Amino acid sequence: VQVVHITAEMAPHAKVGGLGDVVTGLAKACLARGHNVEIMLPYYECLPNDAIEDLRHERDFDCPKGKTWDGVFQAGNLRTQVYTGKIEGCPVILIRPDWNESNLFRGGRIYGGSYNEAEAYLYFSRACLEYLRQSGRQPDVVHVHEWQASAVPMLFWDAPARFSQDFWDAPARFSQDMPRTRVVMTIHNFDSSGECRQDEFSATGVSGELYSTIDKALDERTIGHNPERLCLLKGGIVYSNAVTTVSPNYANETLNGGAAGWLKSTLATPGVAVKYSGVLNGIDTDFWDPTHDPFLPACYSPQQQEGKALCKRFLQMGLGMTVDPDKPLVAVISRLVPQKGIHLIEHAVHRTIELGGQFVVLGTGHADSGLRNLAGGQYRDNPDVQMRFMYSEALAHQIYAAADMLLVPSMFEPCGLTQMIALRYGTVPVVRSTGGLADTVKDVDNYQGNDMQPNGYVFDGIDAGSLNSALDRAIAAYKGHPKEWAALRGRIMADAARWSWDVAAGSYVDLYNKVLSI
Ligand code: ADP
Ligand code: GLC
Repeated sequence: VQVVHITAEMAPHAKVGGLGDVVTGLAKACLARGHNVEIMLPYYECLPNDAIEDLRHERDFDCPKGKTWDGVFQAGNLRTQVYTGKIEGCPVILIRPDWNESNLFRGGRIYGGSYNEAEAYLYFSRACLEYLRQSGRQPDVVHVHEWQASAVPMLFWDAPARFSQDFWDAPARFSQDMPRTRVVMTIHNFDSSGECRQDEFSATGVSGELYSTIDKALDERTIGHNPERLCLLKGGIVYSNAVTTVSPNYANETLNGGAAGWLKSTLATPGVAVKYSGVLNGIDTDFWDPTHDPFLPACYSPQQQEGKALCKRFLQMGLGMTVDPDKPLVAVISRLVPQKGIHLIEHAVHRTIELGGQFVVLGTGHADSGLRNLAGGQYRDNPDVQMRFMYSEALAHQIYAAADMLLVPSMFEPCGLTQMIALRYGTVPVVRSTGGLADTVKDVDNYQGNDMQPNGYVFDGIDAGSLNSALDRAIAAYKGHPKEWAALRGRIMADAARWSWDVAAGSYVDLYNKVLSI
């Protein structure tokens, strides 16, 4: 199968969270199976150039892009440069607007620059399709991710009459130029649905008519939280040939619970329900491999676990903690946003210290103030509470390896990769039973099913008492039953192949073949 991914993130150089990991992991696994995969990504100014192998300027073209000036819509073009190269062995196509004319994708970070994100990603979506057509590519599947790329299915399938003829003279439909191509969309998180105004959408080079047509196609009066705005995710859902989210349980929560918010009714419409499913993410088991991890002071395996103790000692020394092999070390590696259950992380710091453990946090995000207060206040002089408010790949690997437990107390979690990475490193996950966490972690004391071996500690509620019910058991087991703990650690590491992309990529390839047969 020939697949082109269109995405805002790609690990390791353009990554903010799991989206980047998923794109790279899935692409590598499909390449290894002999499929042809390319990844289209904005050429962010912050991308380190030396990170891209064989970087080549491929072509320039004018991408239709209008703007509103004093309330009047003006058609126009934005000169666009295309670069090709490879990241992590995967062919990439980088889209870069002329920075003399525009500030899109500029700044020191991927998100949060001084440009308008809706405008930037709408332009990017249009530019990707324009490039595919101009380069004569006929991919079997265009696989788009998140709201940032969800204008692609709309632009791809829209009928010719609806395009503005004013400034766009190329043959009308992308789908006419790529007749075999099918569009698959993956939603990694329903929390960001991507909303834009009519003039922002029109700036893709498509007349305002498409905006209202989408509204009609959806056959519902509400098109967003705000009726004045178009919800890009919703348009993407309606116009894609298949839609996935990143775990079966989260898919179920979006259909039968509140996880999709008001988009629940869109998912339930008959045309959508049949093409929607949950496919569990995998992890890149080469990148996350305790037997060959260049970031670690010592490597280890299920059979030879001594290296893990060395990693713990190295981290304790490096962060200035008490150096003690027997203190339970609990870690959090996370974006610090409300989704991640910040109040429970704060509570877990107190509880872990009360129970004689150590606590490490590595994270960034706007909801970090409570944790910063703990680190700089009550625990300032306690070496056993260490927090690093930064993004560090190296430190993340060292913490996954060193910790005894990884805590993931999310309020909701579409899939979650950190618990799977922890399992790979023999670090026992303590998680809230939600989304993909519930699919991947089964409680060692309470699991009745027989589809997999129990592998961690699970709690349900969102209050401190619920968290204690899992954390206390984990710490007691660690302290009171070291032999059983070592056995559990060996078992979860040995079982980690189950989380590799090899398995998950198979499900995506099946899906690609299914949409190709439509
Ligand atoms: P989400 O995508 O919601 O952030 P996931 O669990 O799917 O959550 O993925 C998070 C990814 O980001 C993991 O690879 C994790 O190791 C990584 N990560 C999160 N915060 C940091 C950080 N501060 N430094 C390094 N890696 C981080
Ligand atoms: C999102 C979700 C996370 C998921 C990741 C990759 O960021 O928050 O649960 O693992 O995407 O799909």
